[in-house]
Amino acid sequence: MFTKTIIFLILLTSSLFAKEFTLTSPDKSIKVVVEFTNGKVFYKVNKDRSPIIRKSQLGNILTRLDLSKDLEFVGVETSNYDQVWEQVWGEMRYIRDNHNRLVLKLKKFSVQMNIEFKAFNDGVAFRYDFPTQNLTNFEIIDEVSEFNFHRDDKIWWIPAFQGNRYEYLYTKSNITDINVIHTPTTIEKANGYTVALHEARLLDYTSMALKNWGNGKLKADLYPWANTNVRVRGSAPLVSPWRTIQIAVNQGKLVESTMILNLNDPVDPNLDTSFASTGKYVGIWWGMHLGLYTWGSGDRHGATTENTKKYIDFAADNGLDGVLVEGWNYGWDGNWEANGDIFIFDQPYTDWDIEYLSEYAKSKGVTIIGHHETAAKTGNYEYQMDNAYAFMNKYGIKAVKTGYVGQRLDWGEWHHGQFGVNHYAKAMKKGLETKVMMVVHEPIKQTGLRRTYPNLMSAEGVRGQEYNAWGRPGNTPEHTTIVPFTRSLAGPVDFTPGAMDTKFNDWRPDSRVPTTIAKQLALYVVIYSPWQMLCDLPENYEARPDAMEFLKAVPTNWEKTVGLNSKIGDYSVIARKDWDSDNWYVGGITDEQGRTITIDLNFLEKGRKYQVKGYQDARGASWNVNPHAMETYTTEVIGGDTAFDLHMAPGGGVALEFKAL
Ligand code: NOJ
Ligand code: CA
Repeated sequence: MFTKTIIFLILLTSSLFAKEFTLTSPDKSIKVVVEFTNGKVFYKVNKDRSPIIRKSQLGNILTRLDLSKDLEFVGVETSNYDQVWEQVWGEMRYIRDNHNRLVLKLKKFSVQMNIEFKAFNDGVAFRYDFPTQNLTNFEIIDEVSEFNFHRDDKIWWIPAFQGNRYEYLYTKSNITDINVIHTPTTIEKANGYTVALHEARLLDYTSMALKNWGNGKLKADLYPWANTNVRVRGSAPLVSPWRTIQIAVNQGKLVESTMILNLNDPVDPNLDTSFASTGKYVGIWWGMHLGLYTWGSGDRHGATTENTKKYIDFAADNGLDGVLVEGWNYGWDGNWEANGDIFIFDQPYTDWDIEYLSEYAKSKGVTIIGHHETAAKTGNYEYQMDNAYAFMNKYGIKAVKTGYVGQRLDWGEWHHGQFGVNHYAKAMKKGLETKVMMVVHEPIKQTGLRRTYPNLMSAEGVRGQEYNAWGRPGNTPEHTTIVPFTRSLAGPVDFTPGAMDTKFNDWRPDSRVPTTIAKQLALYVVIYSPWQMLCDLPENYEARPDAMEFLKAVPTNWEKTVGLNSKIGDYSVIARKDWDSDNWYVGGITDEQGRTITIDLNFLEKGRKYQVKGYQDARGASWNVNPHAMETYTTEVIGGDTAFDLHMAPGGGVALEFKAL
């Protein structure tokens, strides 16, 4: 009798404490069910009633407190939101932030932790919030967040916890066959939906990798501080980045998702952001990667006054906005990768006359783009930051490319850990304060911070064009058909397209760029960046006036972006509308297979006439046999026309300009 009563009481209490809350997207297509049972929290996500994420646990483990179990339910709060905001610059001008929100309030003993969910029409996000309370200097040693997929789902991924940071070729495998991977990662579900996992607003926290937990389940695996199992150090109030789940019915539409930006804070309306412009640039750069110039001093030094002047002239003559100069400062001689402690960021080599060049660049309406290679020694960089940015201000250098080559930062910290996150934020804030635009190489992953810090223009964090110069192997023809649906979902990519000589036989006969020239042009539309490089040598552009016509015309600031026919890993077609005119541009690229893709012109203004200029692979072109064969054509279309064919050679592509008449 006595035992029976106890069992009954337990059932009663547990059912009393089992609660379920439902959050739906504004268009009702996505449903998140949040469940609190026996002191634990779970969630699941459906789209159009099909499972996206199956029941998955949430929580955190602190050094001395397990916040994944024995939690107490405190309450829930809900709200909704619908506002349109304008970007300072971007891949689209106006963005609608329309979401429903639910906050689950929890505690254990005296420690409060909330879990906040937002459901948008393009996906779902959640984050942990340790609100203001008496909780200082605590440590998170694990995040329990699970993403429980189906064991038959397929996944596009690059490995995490590796020496080359984010610079890997993507693999597609069964979700059960991975180990630990980076985000963004994109899942092609067996039920047809495409889902991308990433994070938004990564500030004063560590980044999240995902670990295979078996049977289709992925679990957060946070980057630790060096030589410890501590992942995050903080004091309340503290919020985690948003864990984002972007959902697309048609995978080509993933590129239109605005959720990551919507989860970041608006830019301070009192901030002067007019200095954050967009543009195109050339650089004393590819020459180093081919072996024609050196970064260090000597008779092949790339960053000389004379050479810089030549690049400034080329930029000015072709309406380009900037000239990147690498190897201009002390520290490059010897093995620079090992010499991060000796770089000096305000001391040019003697054969680089910045006094003269800064005046010369100004007179030509071009900005010099500075370069700060730290070789992963952030201490040396932070120590010199005031001087380095004052130097750029003094000489009218409006943008800087920073770099962090090395397997670890300083004394063993991961680029992606909280130490790295805080360093990258410090440099970004310094740039904002001194009105310097930033393009970061070997960066922390992009998480939409450009909304709040519009000087954060672009970043690498991808296996970029440089791998085609010296990578063993180089990139594959399919690589850039994957990037728009993985890496690019995080934010702008400094991929540095534009190779006109794809073989560079005089310099590196064993390497090549695995695309046709037409595909190089298409990449300016397909891979978004507000600053796009024309990576090749000026003489190689001078030899291709046909391609140069497109490169001069293509904008880098867009009012609209429309994802068209795409299949990750096979082909990708994206249309974008110029921010400053009614003209549209389309880029189409394919992998090693030639194809004709037929698109509808519904993205154009209906009934309006457009003059089309196409840059396509010539007959017989292919990435490996005849990559330089490109032809152009002109035609007229009407907005709304259907069945417009894009012809692409193996490893090829097509770039199109639609001029509104
Ligand atoms: C790697 C960067 O990706 C590349 O752009 C740069 O030229 C070298 N580091 C040297 O800083
Ligand atoms: Ca393929």
